Amino acid sequence: MVHELTSPAPAPDDLRRASPSKPGWWRDAVIYQVYVRSFADSDGDGIGDLRGARERLPHLVALGADAVWLTPFYASPQADGGYDVSDYRAVDPVFGDLADADDLVRTAHELGLRVIVDIVPNHTSDQHPWFREALAGRGRRRYHFRPGTGPDGSLPPNDWESVFGGPAWTRVADGSWYLHLFAPEQPDLNWDDEEVRDEFESVLRFWLDLGVDGFRIDVAHGMVKAPGLPDIGHREQVRLIGSQQLPFFDQDGVHEIHRAWRRLLDSYGDERIGVAEAWAPSAERLALYVRPDELHQAFNFQYLNCPWDADALRRVVDDSLRATTSVGATTTWVLSNHDVVRHTTRYGAGAAGLRRARAATLLMLALPGSAYVYQGEELGLPEVTDLPDEVRQDPAFQRGEGQDGLRDGCRVPIPWTSQGPSYGFGPGGSWLPQPPEWRDLSVEAQTGDPASTLELYRSALALRRAHPALGAGDGVEWLPAPPGVLAFRRRAEGAALICTVNLTPGPVRLPAPGRPLLSSAPPAGACAGDAAALGGKVPAPARELADDDPDGAEGRTVLLAPDSCVWWAS
Ligand code: GLC
Repeated sequence: MVHELTSPAPAPDDLRRASPSKPGWWRDAVIYQVYVRSFADSDGDGIGDLRGARERLPHLVALGADAVWLTPFYASPQADGGYDVSDYRAVDPVFGDLADADDLVRTAHELGLRVIVDIVPNHTSDQHPWFREALAGRGRRRYHFRPGTGPDGSLPPNDWESVFGGPAWTRVADGSWYLHLFAPEQPDLNWDDEEVRDEFESVLRFWLDLGVDGFRIDVAHGMVKAPGLPDIGHREQVRLIGSQQLPFFDQDGVHEIHRAWRRLLDSYGDERIGVAEAWAPSAERLALYVRPDELHQAFNFQYLNCPWDADALRRVVDDSLRATTSVGATTTWVLSNHDVVRHTTRYGAGAAGLRRARAATLLMLALPGSAYVYQGEELGLPEVTDLPDEVRQDPAFQRGEGQDGLRDGCRVPIPWTSQGPSYGFGPGGSWLPQPPEWRDLSVEAQTGDPASTLELYRSALALRRAHPALGAGDGVEWLPAPPGVLAFRRRAEGAALICTVNLTPGPVRLPAPGRPLLSSAPPAGACAGDAAALGGKVPAPARELADDDPDGAEGRTVLLAPDSCVWWAS
């Protein structure tokens, strides 16, 4: 029946009572990423803030998230959306103040949500007191200052390129150069310096004492550089980040820092976590970050980068699970974040992109491990691809090389209501213009509509909480499936679930794997592709998953809709 496929989520209160705090909570947690600037604005200045985020936390509870990750809200000149911190213990006035941070953490805890904050240890802002001192000639050891090369020192010390394009070095008034792997406003810290290490331990304690449950560690693979800062020897280095070890990323020395941080986290009990934003060249290298004495999670970007292709996805799933299991950790799946094109758009334009995005989400949520959800993906928001140049703020766009510089397109403030300035984002406007179509994609517009992406996410997360086989464990049991289709079984605590994913653009017939629990294809269009093949006649949804099932007898077959994922009770 249709309503079996999109059963309404249980009330948040029931869920909270049903899921008391469990040890190792992060291992299968669903963590919702709030990009603070674009989530909810309480004061009408067009920029999201901590108070706005706190007021909207019930949305996360209704969705079924276990935790929230907040992007940086610290004092910052905002040269890179707050990833350029000038005071690690202060809240930027644009986002509120320390009391707002405290309120947010307390409210989240009251609602049963854990709170992860971002920490940015690879670099500071160029306005940080340490860098200002360095420019004045004091304490330069905390950064990477070097003389230039060439006859008059007018060439950079080596050939490293900034992730945002252009050289990774900038020259200062006295003729020396400093390293910045990102924007010039983000000078890289020198982690060989004891004072740098001590300061960050103190900053971590500051936020742990305030009650946060963990840290998302920005550029966790970058803090240590190869000794001697050797040349790389070719250009377009950024393209190699995910496939090759570079002298500025994924150096073995970073692990010593993560071990020290783990000891610090553990001194606060066993529930505070560290999650690495680490770009490593292989699943094996990434797994090193989640060894038992290091961090708890590391984003699996290999999965995020994988094309919509059955063989490739299966390989990534196998590689990821094998690598993390080998060190006793779980995998951390992610499809979208504030740095990449939203997966709705990445998977293809228009309806196909949305269909695949919904299927990819159900697949992700059926796999063992933790999953991150980026604000707005639960609304099926597409990337905004036509922002005018003058509103763009991504520093990579200004530098015009390196990264595509289009990260503003996934950072457009999200719509909450169908009316009002900025569709409920706040009482004023929004720092990036929202497409008018987004009124129909708002939380308000989608709530209660069983075909909506929001209700799909709510149902999926409710089922994930209720079904022991979802999220738990560390392996999948692949089942035979036709080309272009993935099928696997998950088992835990005597319960079993089968997940099928049809990655082809047409319907595929299969022996019925069980009773359908949830389908990513909207009920009214569950077999839209098939319907098109049938001359546009959309069959009744309940028949689509059991259309050869005259009497429920064994041997029945089902049609999987194109680009769809179905969870089956088996
Ligand atoms: C990380 C952040 C990104 C930021 C960069 C520099 O990759 O996710 O937004 O620009 O680090 O801090």
